[in-house]
Amino acid sequence: MRAAEGGGFLSAVERLPEDLVNKIAAGEVVERPASVVKELIENAIDAGARSIHIDIEGGGAGLVRVRDDGRGMSRTDAELALERHATSKLRKLEDLQAMATHGFRGEALPSIAAVSELVLRTREDGTVEGTEIAVSHGRRLHVRDAGHPRGTTVEMRDLFGAVPARRKFLRAASTEAGHVAEAVTLLALARPETGFYLKSGARRLLEAPPVDGLAPRLYQVFGPRLLEDVVPVEGGADWAVVRGFVSRPDRPRPSRPSLRLYVNRRPVRDRALAKAVSEAYRGSGGGERGFEAFLFVEAPPHLVDVNVHPAKTEVRFADARTVWAAVERAVREALSEGVRELPRVEVGRDAEDGSVAERAAAATRSFFEHGSALSGTAPASGWGRRPEAPDRVAEVSASPAPAGAPPIVLGQHRLTYIVASDGDELVLVDQHTAHERVRFERLLERAGRHAVQSQGLVTPLVLELPPELRPVLDAQAETLGELGFDVEAFGGGSIRLRALPAVLGHKDPGPALEGILRDLAQRGEAEWAVAGTRDRLAATLACHSAVRAGQPLNVESMSAIVRDLLQTAHPTLCPHGRPTVVRIPRAEVSRWFGRTGWRRQ
Ligand SMILES: Nc1ncnc2c1ncn2[C@@H]1O[C@H](COP(=O)(O)OP(=O)(O)O)[C@@H](O)[C@H]1O
Ligand SMILES: [Mg+2]
Repeated sequence: MRAAEGGGFLSAVERLPEDLVNKIAAGEVVERPASVVKELIENAIDAGARSIHIDIEGGGAGLVRVRDDGRGMSRTDAELALERHATSKLRKLEDLQAMATHGFRGEALPSIAAVSELVLRTREDGTVEGTEIAVSHGRRLHVRDAGHPRGTTVEMRDLFGAVPARRKFLRAASTEAGHVAEAVTLLALARPETGFYLKSGARRLLEAPPVDGLAPRLYQVFGPRLLEDVVPVEGGADWAVVRGFVSRPDRPRPSRPSLRLYVNRRPVRDRALAKAVSEAYRGSGGGERGFEAFLFVEAPPHLVDVNVHPAKTEVRFADARTVWAAVERAVREALSEGVRELPRVEVGRDAEDGSVAERAAAATRSFFEHGSALSGTAPASGWGRRPEAPDRVAEVSASPAPAGAPPIVLGQHRLTYIVASDGDELVLVDQHTAHERVRFERLLERAGRHAVQSQGLVTPLVLELPPELRPVLDAQAETLGELGFDVEAFGGGSIRLRALPAVLGHKDPGPALEGILRDLAQRGEAEWAVAGTRDRLAATLACHSAVRAGQPLNVESMSAIVRDLLQTAHPTLCPHGRPTVVRIPRAEVSRWFGRTGWRRQ
């Protein structure tokens, strides 16, 4: 607009007030509570924190508090920190070429302060009195003395409280909390040496004290199962080093790809590199399904431009092709190695004797799986329910099932695995999960014909059911009948059990029923590969009646399990989604012994 048309102002161009500039910038830096959490954690990391406590309320829109034990700030610095483009991390343009810190733009704190109620408390070594600064939606309220241990606490309340248009875009508290959890996870994986503690209201979502390396950190965040399902990546090309973990091709795989990517320890998004990972899976015969990958790319800082976006979640490489090739190759190599390395399935890790720690980990995991990038990691439900569908499960195994004779059983390994050969491939079968699959399909087939065998008790058993299991019994009453139980409520919390499925014949009836109900009640959604009340009850029955890990078996029983397994509709997974069989291709075995090329296999 020119001055003349603007009504006679001398100048139509005016410098915007700083507060307005900050509010505009906030649009780029602060999208939702998770972005606030990300920026504050990055500042804590940049300040050398050893442990970072994050508390949120109302999904973070109500409160975000990030407390660190880093170097803290002097009063002057703290006041400056809330001003736009004030940073201690960048001094001259050349520094941008080798940024080792997360921050450098000096935008986060003023942007957050512009759209919330912010209180910053901080103290650095050598000073007695700490500083407190309060800002309300861009207006400074006070600067005063305040006690604080060495380090910094930033407390943010009422995000977008004065910007209703933005506030409207926030989702339900649980969704926002999921995004916060993902933001914390991303940074926690990049810094195993730093402790991360996340609480949402009274609920602890993450407890991760400092550890040595990515693997123990993955364990802390996702629980033991994830580590069983991934192989290490260690490779690269030219100047790009690639490390991390990717999901094994021979395990049940998520339906969607999930890549957590880091460049020089900075979490970034990069479509091209996600493609490189997909490409590697396709190249190793993995098809189009999903994967779970954690990849750390290290590249000389001067070849990476980190200043592409205000939120610093994108980077640009001087030579993108080299990075692409490095990632694709490193992952492809890891996947082919992974097939050689047998999956680790621990002895006695059956569902019902999972430890408390495992259950806690599973609970955390299932939390993360709701509303975060991890939602793709749950085994696809519905396996075993649609025999008419193409056998999706078969794709998971390293090679197709043999058309010919059943494998010959050679023996039992660690009282847990059946070792067999089909003349071509070496076949390892998990005796428990395999038997579980067999029993499961048989039970369903009989239930369909109303022909489940039931075994009556000589005298009906009256037992007291713990209160938390009573609703489960009520909900399952009909299905329990279909699957061979004869049970009825008997006043109060008592029930009367007259008969139970014949498959459980050898068990103590009371504890058996209770164990089954407990299992049904306690398993999270992610711990099932089948859906529907009847299928899940059948799966639980199958699990409770199948041979266990650690149980000695003779060759006849083992042969029967293998033979029956191959006749099931979905032989490669148990109803809880664990693998039943791993095949080691002939070529693989030959390779171990150097019988390749012209030599006889
Ligand atoms: N948790 C903290 N501990 C110590 N110093 C901090 C902390 N948070 C922010 N600062 C200081 O405030 C400055 C501004 O922070 P910020 O607005 O996030 O910009 P940037 O991180 O890009 O420098 C930082 O450069 C740093 O000096
Ligand atoms: Mg910062």
